[in-house]
Amino acid sequence: MNQELSTSIIIFGASGDLTQRKLIPSLLNLFIKGRMPQAFQIIGFAGSEFTDEHFREHLLEGAKKFAAFEFSDDEWDSFAPRLRYQQGKYADAADYKKLNDMLAGVEGGAANRIYYMALPPTLFPAIIDNLDSTGQLHENGGWRRVILEKPFGTNLASAVKLNQQVHKALNENQIYRIDHYLGKETVQNILFTRFANTIFEPIWNRNYIDHVQITVAEKVGLEHRAGFYDGVGILRDMFQNHLLQLLTLVAMEPPASFNASHLRNEKVKVLSAIKPMTPEQVTVNSVRAQYRGYREEPEVKRNSTTATYAALRLFINNWRWHGVPFYLRSGKKLAEKQSQIIINFKEPPLAMFPMQTMKSNMLVLYLQPDEGVHLRFEAKAPDTVAETRSVDMEFHYAEAFGQTAIPEAYERLLLDALQGDASLFTRADEVETAWSLIDPILQTWETHQTPPLAVYRPNSWGPTEADSLLARDGRWWMQNEATTMLND
Ligand code: BG6
Repeated sequence: MNQELSTSIIIFGASGDLTQRKLIPSLLNLFIKGRMPQAFQIIGFAGSEFTDEHFREHLLEGAKKFAAFEFSDDEWDSFAPRLRYQQGKYADAADYKKLNDMLAGVEGGAANRIYYMALPPTLFPAIIDNLDSTGQLHENGGWRRVILEKPFGTNLASAVKLNQQVHKALNENQIYRIDHYLGKETVQNILFTRFANTIFEPIWNRNYIDHVQITVAEKVGLEHRAGFYDGVGILRDMFQNHLLQLLTLVAMEPPASFNASHLRNEKVKVLSAIKPMTPEQVTVNSVRAQYRGYREEPEVKRNSTTATYAALRLFINNWRWHGVPFYLRSGKKLAEKQSQIIINFKEPPLAMFPMQTMKSNMLVLYLQPDEGVHLRFEAKAPDTVAETRSVDMEFHYAEAFGQTAIPEAYERLLLDALQGDASLFTRADEVETAWSLIDPILQTWETHQTPPLAVYRPNSWGPTEADSLLARDGRWWMQNEATTMLND
């Protein structure tokens, strides 16, 4: 619909990091690949002073520094005239009128518009209200869409309120809530592994799978974000969105089709099948920890109890997964940047071979870095009578598709929003259901300070308490095993 109309992408918070690092490089690459609409313009809106020229220079500098692809001067020179800047205050309706007048001038008639909120969620309602009151959300000939950056609220109540506020001016099908993990190729590939093949799905259930481990480990600490991070912490920053999204993709039923509402219905079903924890369950099934030295970081409160690491043990109460633990963990300042999902299968029912070491098969989805999929199974060690050894069947993206095959997550998400496909964005009920699982954990942590806040060494794999969480069940974090083997 209306693809032939001119399209405006208006970025609120355009002077910030995200625009320079991710949004503009992604739009530039889409432009180079010929995937942008024929007629389009990108308008930055923020409080800082910029002329158009100055704004373009600032973005070029960012693109040179952060784009993971090469581009020529010619390519930039044909892209740059599409970039403009409008200075304004987010709370001032008069500035929105100026914006609208400026847009009307460049669009020259009916046009499509995407408003991108690249700023904190507390500002969304005021911006949306102002856009609404100046008639800019009205679909007169062209469509109107709004992309909302994360975090979407800080708890269930604030997310519900935010949904109500944005729904006053917009229909749900105009809203695109970002979770950039959903734009990652390897995350999209979870569904392809499961549903574009026949060999995995028949065993993808409690009859064959012993447990699932989801790890999103970061080597970086707070960088320049301490002011934002302290008081937010790992559960709000990583679990409510990224880790729970990964869990839904691993655990969901096959959707009726690959469209946004069918996909999102299945994701909501998975989240709804997890029971929110009682405080007693939180104490037993969660680990919260802070890296040593966190309280000495600039802008962090000296008595902060903000967790920079968490581990959870969750159960999905449905026929497919009943009794199968899902162990989730994520943390800052860990030994390595590594995100992976391990599907750990059950051990064979008996050891048939005299020298057999009992090992379970493992399917490992390596999300980043070294993107790929590995299948671990047992083989007879050559030149032994009957010894077994674990071996790996490996698929690496770089080998199969070439080094540069994986685009930036934002590239895909921006393209989908331009094309009106919301499959890789989260729906209102999905975000709220995710919060309903995280809220009781946060409340127990913050109000009762239980379980006690553990401390871990920077550059380690996290606190020993996280090992105990699995050891109680007779299990261990598989990645630690792999890393230890590498370091031996
Ligand atoms: C963001 C979090 O959503 O994801 C950051 O706010 C985190 O704290 C980042 O560092 C991790 O993303 P990626 O793509 O580097 O795994």
